[in-house]
Amino acid sequence: MALELPCSLITLLLLVQSVPYSTTAQTFANHYLGSFLTAQNDDSFWASSSDDFAFGFKQIGEGGYLLAIWFNKIPEKPVVWSANGNNLAPRGSVVKLTQYGQLVLSHPTGKEIWKADCSGSEVAYAAMLDTGNFVLASQDSASLWQSFDHPTDTILPTNTMDKSSKLVARYAEMNYSNGRFQFTLQSDGDLVLQTRAFPLDSANSGYWWSETVDTGFQVVFNESGSIYVAANDGSILKMISSPAGYLKGFYHRAILEYDGVFRHYVYPKSITTANAGNWSPLQSFIPPNICNAIRQRTGGGACGFNSYCMIGEDQRPSCRCPEGYTFIDPDDVMKGCKQNFLSQSCDKGLPETDVFDFHLMPNTDWPESDYEYFRGQTEDWCREACLGDCFCAVAIYRNDECWKKKIPLSNGRLDVKVAGTALIKIRKGNSTLNPSGADRSTLIFIGSVLLSSSVFLNFLLLVSAFLVVFRFNFWKPKVFQALHQVMPGMNLRSFSYEELQKATNGFKEELGSGAFATVYKGSLEYSDDTIYVAVKRLNNMERHGDQEFKAEVSAIGRTNHRNLVQLLGFCNEGEHRLLVYEFMSYGSVASLLFGSSKPSWYQRMQIALGIARGLFYLHEECRRQIIHCDIKPQNILLDETWTARISDFGIAKLLKIDQTRTMTRIRGTKGYVAPEWFRNMPITVKVDVYSFGIVLLELICCRKNFEVEVEYENQMILADWAYDCYNDGKLDLLVGNDEKALDDMKRVEKYVMIAIWCIQVDPLVRPTMKKVVQMMEGAVEVSVPPDPSLFTSSI
Ligand SMILES: *[C@@H]1O[C@H](CO)[C@@H](O)[C@H](O)[C@H]1NC(C)=O
Ligand SMILES: *[C@@H]1O[C@H](CO)[C@@H](O)[C@H](O)[C@H]1NC(C)=O
Ligand SMILES: *[C@@H]1O[C@H](CO)[C@@H](O)[C@H](O)[C@H]1NC(C)=O
Repeated sequence: MALELPCSLITLLLLVQSVPYSTTAQTFANHYLGSFLTAQNDDSFWASSSDDFAFGFKQIGEGGYLLAIWFNKIPEKPVVWSANGNNLAPRGSVVKLTQYGQLVLSHPTGKEIWKADCSGSEVAYAAMLDTGNFVLASQDSASLWQSFDHPTDTILPTNTMDKSSKLVARYAEMNYSNGRFQFTLQSDGDLVLQTRAFPLDSANSGYWWSETVDTGFQVVFNESGSIYVAANDGSILKMISSPAGYLKGFYHRAILEYDGVFRHYVYPKSITTANAGNWSPLQSFIPPNICNAIRQRTGGGACGFNSYCMIGEDQRPSCRCPEGYTFIDPDDVMKGCKQNFLSQSCDKGLPETDVFDFHLMPNTDWPESDYEYFRGQTEDWCREACLGDCFCAVAIYRNDECWKKKIPLSNGRLDVKVAGTALIKIRKGNSTLNPSGADRSTLIFIGSVLLSSSVFLNFLLLVSAFLVVFRFNFWKPKVFQALHQVMPGMNLRSFSYEELQKATNGFKEELGSGAFATVYKGSLEYSDDTIYVAVKRLNNMERHGDQEFKAEVSAIGRTNHRNLVQLLGFCNEGEHRLLVYEFMSYGSVASLLFGSSKPSWYQRMQIALGIARGLFYLHEECRRQIIHCDIKPQNILLDETWTARISDFGIAKLLKIDQTRTMTRIRGTKGYVAPEWFRNMPITVKVDVYSFGIVLLELICCRKNFEVEVEYENQMILADWAYDCYNDGKLDLLVGNDEKALDDMKRVEKYVMIAIWCIQVDPLVRPTMKKVVQMMEGAVEVSVPPDPSLFTSSI
């Protein structure tokens, strides 16, 4: 039987009967002294007998040739070993088994580029084995050198790694130079993943450890595809990957990839159209989340300086630049990001505080870049502190803690597990995104609603009905914060309908429904995390224009405030229009306030302040003004820190297309609806101020704005009763026997006064939300409010 090998003519073709280094009785071709390969085209290689692997030259772009071993039957010919990644060989270079028994790669001029180190012994022949191991053997078939002993970034089944051997990641997917990470079985027996002190050959600190100090002996990749750290006696100390079900029939490789993650991949040997072309990673890669795993005092982290890392939907780390920053080299994103604005001047007499602003990024941190730390302060204090400090590039605010961070930022990550919000300081008017005022159009639903003068009667009748519906029931106490895969120019992820169908288990668990939408609970799988989401399915959206929908959704997506429920993504597919929000595990203020266990006075006041701040942001601070139009306790949700989070904002504008139908309804919920909705008057931000006033009264008194079962008839309508109590100096009646509130009557009075200001019939008399926040925080005195019903026509 003759074996045809596609190699140079001088190569001796021989079939050897007794074969060394093969575990199964395979046959292979040996290449004897004088054999050589020339770097000139992709045909110059020596294949293994099964043709599964080949050794030879592979052209890398225009840069030159890599002496490598690759999977020869897989179309892309993935490289599993290489000799000269740091020093590509030009065309015409030759690798040769010399007459002196050495394997040498030399330049066309004859200069040596690389040599297999056989410690002086003479090689008799070389062989490419079917395992992917390339061996150099002596006359008596003793192995003098084998590629398995000198792995680059990949190990294959039957390849073991002994103490002090390592894998070094390549620099980039298609750049075989030494990169930034290494995987080492240290001499103490511990297997560690480390960052490297690029461009040197030394290691920095580790970011994953097998914890097998003293006991670890070898890293084994056995024939059936299990990878583990073994002890001296062969017992398994630490399983790294054990692929149940992927035994025969698959190629395996485990590689420390350029992103620093060690992954085990399989590829079907019998390629069909269904499975063609893809290496599938097994789930057990390490570390599970590299963005969070690397945290080192020096070095940029997983993604380089000034950038941040997040695990994408494909479970791979992705490197991004915060707003105001761009990649230093878009072709090498791990080099990090640079500020694309002039940083703040530290010169005296040049207070630049008014030309800087913050971009908010929840769940983001650069943990090793702080230089100052404060506690017991508000977010506003933290902002001001950073704004006034020319060293401060980013502030992190979490609960009442504030950190100032300096450039270059390092170890950046965005992850659900990261608490707090990063405030990225950027120069106004000189960032990449358009911050010009032109965008600040008003986002509202302008539906002037015409109702007859018997409105008030209808109003009373409808109040009770509306209060019963629209109840959100949130259960499972799984905490969830915003996580999103950011789309360029839009901090939102676009979902397919199918994805959301799957995430909600076929829209199974309904959380609530209203005239315009139904909300379902869903979950998304991210790396090692399950994230709960609320999926809102909008009804009657058929006639909504595509562009319009996108524009509105992106306006909602651009909002970012701790008192708002974050929109994570959307689906816009055919007639399907869905919005995906973070899931608020503690339900709504309505279920809390009107449920069985009443929240404390302090909690209620925190909630009130939170709602006020959220509304202030929507009205005045976000890039595009948003009028909520439907503020009520059912739309205020609570996160796991009991922070009030406004939901459903921006929806009013989205429903605009439905005008003909909404004309007959009132946008907003009876009882919370400002009087101008019933009069032919323009709708402004003041409608939200009115609704807030009603909600504030509900929070103060811990009851609904309309109740039939009351002691006295004049108590049915909370707003009227509250004003009467205020007027008569009997505010204690409003809080009943709530002792904490009775001890705090000054604040009760102040808040009732603020609420009365908010529910003035004349919108012009109502304060702005900014003023409301200032009054609540004590920055501004509250003056005596007039009787709310004294309507002075403002038109
Ligand atoms: C690979 O990356 C290194 C480090 O940045 C660079 O010096 C080298 O030129 C790159 N090689 C190729 C072929 O692009
Ligand atoms: C490889 O290791 C796994 C896990 O210990 C074991 O189940 C399997 O039998 C081993 N395969 C071989 C060929 O030794
Ligand atoms: C923006 O910043 C750059 C420096 O990064 C500066 O050269 C440029 O003049 C600035 N542009 C404006 C409009 O301030």
